[in-house]
Amino acid sequence: MRRDAGDDCATSGTPQRVQTDNAMEVLTFNAGDSKKGAKLFKTRCQQCHNLKEGEGNKIGPNLHGLFGRHTGQVEGFSYSDANKQKGIEWNQDTLFEYLENPKKYIPGTKMAFGGLKKGKDRNDLITFVAPVPITTTRISMLTRPQLPPGGD
Ligand code: HEC
Repeated sequence: MRRDAGDDCATSGTPQRVQTDNAMEVLTFNAGDSKKGAKLFKTRCQQCHNLKEGEGNKIGPNLHGLFGRHTGQVEGFSYSDANKQKGIEWNQDTLFEYLENPKKYIPGTKMAFGGLKKGKDRNDLITFVAPVPITTTRISMLTRPQLPPGGD
């Protein structure tokens, strides 16, 4: 149910994720360049993650179907408790925050990745891993908690 979209505020109860401390950076997800994202995925993620269906898990879980899935749900992958218990839904917003500093977003994660510090890199990467081409319009639709069913 779309109501779940509110879950990603679970950490602090502050829905205003725009107010982060790095005010100089891009603060929220904006659709980026999927080709650049593909390159980033290859160089920064692929050694640990597959992205295609059925390719299985590597050091990290297969990221196919990530959007809309809650943390720690890939069958056969042995997650850390921290990752499993984070309990948020993966979408462009949660990924945007997570990928900046995974160890800060999920303290105790076993993902050995320092993060993509540039907001632009995260935008490009997330645009690439998104299941469908996402535009800024679509983003706001996806993130609005009370979207009526069928809005997809
Ligand atoms: C050195 C290996 C490594 C690299 C590089 C890496 N990851 Fe991971 N990733 C992992 C591991 C291991 C986990 C599981 C973490 C846990 O269980 O604590 C994980 C977990 C994740 C999760 C959570 C999945 C879930 O089902 O909850 C996401 C999302 C993710 N990685 C995305 C990425 C992206 C995107 C990149 C590239 C920008 C990346 N990772 C780079 C190893 C890696």
